[in-house]
Amino acid sequence: MKIAVFVSGGGTNLQAIIDKIESGEIRNVEISEVIASNDKAFAIERAKKAGIPSKVISKKALGDEYDDATLTELNSLGVDLVVLAGFLSMLGQKTVKAYANRIINIHPALIPSFCGQGMYGIRPHEAVLAKGVKVSGATVHFVNEHYDEGPIILQKAVDVLPDDTPESLQKRIMVECEQVILPKAIQLIADGKIEVVNNLVRVKP
Ligand code: GAR
Repeated sequence: MKIAVFVSGGGTNLQAIIDKIESGEIRNVEISEVIASNDKAFAIERAKKAGIPSKVISKKALGDEYDDATLTELNSLGVDLVVLAGFLSMLGQKTVKAYANRIINIHPALIPSFCGQGMYGIRPHEAVLAKGVKVSGATVHFVNEHYDEGPIILQKAVDVLPDDTPESLQKRIMVECEQVILPKAIQLIADGKIEVVNNLVRVKP
């Protein structure tokens, strides 16, 4: 299965995918290209180090051309799956439609809580602590035309600890949740074990 990985920042999720492909934990999956929303993303360095082609497709620079540019790139790569791994922008509607149920996103909270427009990066963790909820975690879901609303594929939770800061919670969720369930979801899809029925995900045994 050929995948494109979209990134915006540090790229720890990208790194987890690269490492698990290299170690054989993810099988029959190849990263065709890493696509960054900006040229400052450290994830680009991670791609280069792993010998994976990378490209910047910037919404800011392309404006109205962004959607077509993304779609053209994905079609020319011939990818089976698009993975948004710390991608802090929103894909265009044409791309989302053309790749329905073939785009997945990792969100750093337990959807439907602490998600939606503006809830990205450190913000969900700040909101979790402000609300005083006792568990948080991460969600992998298919991407539809609304922020964080597509069918949920996998979730993993951790306890929120009394002395957590947004940063400590973010780190724990990245390591214990995101870097576990994103690779797992990719493998399930590569193995043909995920189907969407009535807008809900069913994991085949
Ligand atoms: C991750 O926590 C990811 O879940 C989050 O941004 C961080 C990027 O980390 N994504 C979102 O908030 C998307 N709504 P990374 O670049 O090190 O993988």
